[in-house]
Amino acid sequence: LLPPRFLEIEAVSKDNNLPDSVSRRAILLIAKSAFAASPHLEMQRLADRLSALRPGAIVRFAFTEQGTPSLREALSDLLDEDVDNVVIMPLVLPMEPSFHIWLTKSLKRWKSTDERSWPALSIARDIASSALMVPLLGELLETSAELDVPPGQKLFTEGSLVPAQKRRVLVCEGGACNSAGADTIWTHLRNQQERRKLRVTGDGTMTAKSTCLGPCNLAPVLQVFPEGTYYGGVTEEAVDRIITEHLLGDEVVEDFAYHPTGRKQRLRTPSKQY
Ligand code: FES
Repeated sequence: LLPPRFLEIEAVSKDNNLPDSVSRRAILLIAKSAFAASPHLEMQRLADRLSALRPGAIVRFAFTEQGTPSLREALSDLLDEDVDNVVIMPLVLPMEPSFHIWLTKSLKRWKSTDERSWPALSIARDIASSALMVPLLGELLETSAELDVPPGQKLFTEGSLVPAQKRRVLVCEGGACNSAGADTIWTHLRNQQERRKLRVTGDGTMTAKSTCLGPCNLAPVLQVFPEGTYYGGVTEEAVDRIITEHLLGDEVVEDFAYHPTGRKQRLRTPSKQY
């Protein structure tokens, strides 16, 4: 077995070596997305099993793209519970380097904007690096079952509803926007879309990720249709305002809006938070 290693966000306190109950350790399992109830239950089952393995530790789960609680919400709850350290365990396969960069930047940004007392944070390394990965693959191979598809079976074509929603928000996931924290914006927007029932409220809003929308130096960028309004330097707080004022109130949020002028534009309030 490889020794347990953690990528430290900051020096983990010496308490890390103490039993979980003494050092008040929390373990946060994170996955990217869950749309239905069953993946949430699966995460809960994993958390329960880890709890049994590490009695005394607080074990929770969270999602980084879509699903509740989001990572930020789960961390916020732990801040109120007076824990000494939080170990974040990404259950993401494969884990792209950009995911780790995004995670580290987001944690630092959230910490810098939340004045509560923070525990030491650390990130467990990725699943693929585990020495148990190969035996696991072997075990999974043994579980394969033949798919029963009779030859000559006709596939029938399912129908689709054409959405009635009149609004659409595109969140840019191009390179510049990704580096500037587009995933955080996407997670927040999707969770708010669920909470505030945006699909069926007002004119109805659909959301989607897109490739580069054009004004990369204004990253992170999103665009609201049908007007086609560009928003730049978007933060979670900006998303909240865009929802309330633009999607539901039909008023462009000029603080974050950039209109076509035929000239290059710079961010009015350059954001260093990512
Ligand atoms: S990468 Fe987002 S606008 Fe170009």
